[in-house]
Amino acid sequence: MTHAEIKAWLQQRDPAELQTLWGRADAVRRAQVGDAVHLRGLIELSNYCTRLCGYCGVRAANQQLTRYRMPADEIVACARTALQQGFGTVVLQAGEDATLTGPWVAELIRRIKAETALAVTLSLGERPEAELAAWRAAGADRYLLRFETSNAALFAEIHPPHPVRSRDRVGQLRELRRLGYEVGSGVMIGIPGQSYDDLAADIALFRELDLDMIGVGPFVAHPDTPLGRGLGPQALPAGVQVPNDTLTTYQVLALARLACPRANIPATTALATLGGADGQTLALQRGANVIMPNVTPTAYRRLYQIYPDKACFYDGQEATAAVLRERLAAIGRTVGTGRGDAPNLQGRVCAADAATKGELV
Ligand code: 5AD
Repeated sequence: MTHAEIKAWLQQRDPAELQTLWGRADAVRRAQVGDAVHLRGLIELSNYCTRLCGYCGVRAANQQLTRYRMPADEIVACARTALQQGFGTVVLQAGEDATLTGPWVAELIRRIKAETALAVTLSLGERPEAELAAWRAAGADRYLLRFETSNAALFAEIHPPHPVRSRDRVGQLRELRRLGYEVGSGVMIGIPGQSYDDLAADIALFRELDLDMIGVGPFVAHPDTPLGRGLGPQALPAGVQVPNDTLTTYQVLALARLACPRANIPATTALATLGGADGQTLALQRGANVIMPNVTPTAYRRLYQIYPDKACFYDGQEATAAVLRERLAAIGRTVGTGRGDAPNLQGRVCAADAATKGELV
């Protein structure tokens, strides 16, 4: 798809045309990654963060938030519960908490790997390459780091640079690839100042980066952040500014599926926040093939407020594979078994093997 074609699809509002887009995305999803929906248990380890992202509620300067950090034993216990509930993967997510040092995280990964057969996905922000390498050596399988927007000027406005390191998020994504991680990224949809051209370029970048996982969700204004208070970038004129609504999010999901047919694409929590449980179901019928139920202990969960009123559908005890299986069966889908690695990665590994053996790929 050309830039103009992607942009036209993003701006499309005709219901009949949109049905065509949903149908195409669903057909590609079924053909390329099948009917299984993979479950990832999300553990939010810590809401401490040293960064000052203008959109995010856990930013260092937000003093309205009670901070927590889960002890390692609790995290490992949580991973064990996730395994018992039928999950094949845990996602370890946190703010950029300086206390989660390289060796501490490496030890945590080793413990989870020693005690369970779970795949481990990390979502720990911008970290030095030496740590990413050590975590990969400790057994981490995947890493998620959204680039948020491919518009460098807009990104700079909403994301003050790291005080020491200069490499950008796309640079880290390339390092993660070199280190052998399955690599995930994504964007927020409807950031003030984000145009349809920007969003079309984001989707082209998903493809250029050959992402294994793509997570997208609507921007949700948080009152205790600069963007939520109307500081930061301002909305563009109507028709140019991307709206932060569910329809646009489905359009991005569907186009991401067409751009990256063999990627794993979750129906994300931010979508559920705006669109309800039905929002996640629709996402699964318009390109998505993954859901990430929150398995963080409830006492902590309400404190991980990236944005307000974060949805907790499919949460806690409810997030058992049995309950989900029933809901998914209603739309002709099954619960994935095993780790649910991205078929995209399998393709790349085969190609690399063949290349090493001197075969034509
Ligand atoms: N609205 C929607 N998504 C947000 N994120 C952070 N803050 C917000 C917000 N206000 C997303 C970012 C980040 C991910 C962990 O959460 O895309 O990468």
